[in-house]
Amino acid sequence: MLTTTGLIAGHYECRSLDDTLPVFTDLLAMEVVERKPAEATLKHPNTDWRLIVHEGGPNAPEKAFDNHYGFRVGAHDEVEAAWKYIEAHKEKYRLTKITRPQSAHFAYSIYFNEPGGNTLEIEYYNPGGALHGRSHTAGHWDTPLTSERFPGRGYLPQAFTHGTLQCDNVERSRRFYVEVLGLEIAAGFNMAQYIKHPASPWYIVVLQRSPRQYLAPVNRFTLQMASTSDVEKAHREFTTKGDTLGITVLGKLEGSNGSVNFIFSDLDKNWWELTTAT
Ligand SMILES: [Fe+2]
Repeated sequence: MLTTTGLIAGHYECRSLDDTLPVFTDLLAMEVVERKPAEATLKHPNTDWRLIVHEGGPNAPEKAFDNHYGFRVGAHDEVEAAWKYIEAHKEKYRLTKITRPQSAHFAYSIYFNEPGGNTLEIEYYNPGGALHGRSHTAGHWDTPLTSERFPGRGYLPQAFTHGTLQCDNVERSRRFYVEVLGLEIAAGFNMAQYIKHPASPWYIVVLQRSPRQYLAPVNRFTLQMASTSDVEKAHREFTTKGDTLGITVLGKLEGSNGSVNFIFSDLDKNWWELTTAT
């Protein structure tokens, strides 16, 4: 089993950074912490993991609803306010498939598609969910953002809470996440399970689906390891025992700016990265 120090980033492909970044900064309270020609790193003030957005050009595919990322507000009526604000500004941000507020699993949320081919969610979670075995519902922020930081919308995205993946078989994938990746199961119901790193509250919802969509490696999650030798050891183990562990594609060990990393595809052909980078 891997010992990782954190789930530190999600990587996400869009079509044009100029179209997609304003959706994150203006509607979801994210900040651009680094910008390169075809890549931007985003961070929410209350959440330590990053979203690294890659510009894939006009032909970047439309990703399934099941590959969305989600943000949380602190009150039920803010979901309604977010829906109204997003409906009113959909032309400016070229948003489509905006759903009315709907309830599911202690949550109340809206979804919309940004012009880069991805679905995003704004949700409220009833804190009572944490008392019913849903630990992913609690602890996403200590200091709430105030309306000075995000004025005039009627809602405040308080945290960047989750990403979403599809899998072929919940039982098999759960074993992989726990026994190979060293992640923990925060909750599970029906065909959905919530996985997270033990050190942080943000999580990935994994949904069993058939048929399903397969993503390109540019859409992946990044796990951090403490040392170069840990990453090298993991790469050696995946090289020799990858078939048994459920590794379907193993990338080359690479290094840049003093850090070491590699990408790999798991038993569901979902992509991950191991790195020593911060
Ligand atoms: Fe979600």
